[in-house]
Amino acid sequence: MAEFSLKGVNKPKDPENLTDLEKKHTPVIHVPDDIRAGEPFSVKIVVGELLKHPNELGHYINWVALYDEQYTFLGMATLAPVVSHPKVRFTITLDEPTTLRAFAFCNLHGLWQGKKEVRF
Ligand SMILES: [Fe+2]
Repeated sequence: MAEFSLKGVNKPKDPENLTDLEKKHTPVIHVPDDIRAGEPFSVKIVVGELLKHPNELGHYINWVALYDEQYTFLGMATLAPVVSHPKVRFTITLDEPTTLRAFAFCNLHGLWQGKKEVRF
């Protein structure tokens, strides 16, 4: 079985034991500890935090997008190879707890999802 697919969404098969490919591509979501309903807060998404992903003309992260658990669109950043790095920040507001979903698209290895539960 291939380590990744260009169809659908790639997700870590065993979150406790990531492969190198999963470490390079799975977006990692950071949120503050003190989130309050209805108040803006910063969400930082990093691709390649666990293992650096290449950032060159032939292989790079093309975009990063953020959704909630019902796939409500929250934001998207389009990145250029070499000069843009897959570390993005969105300021969002939530009315209720959710699980944030970040998607990252690698031009060679397809779409990858990372998740983060947000409770307040
Ligand atoms: Fe890649």
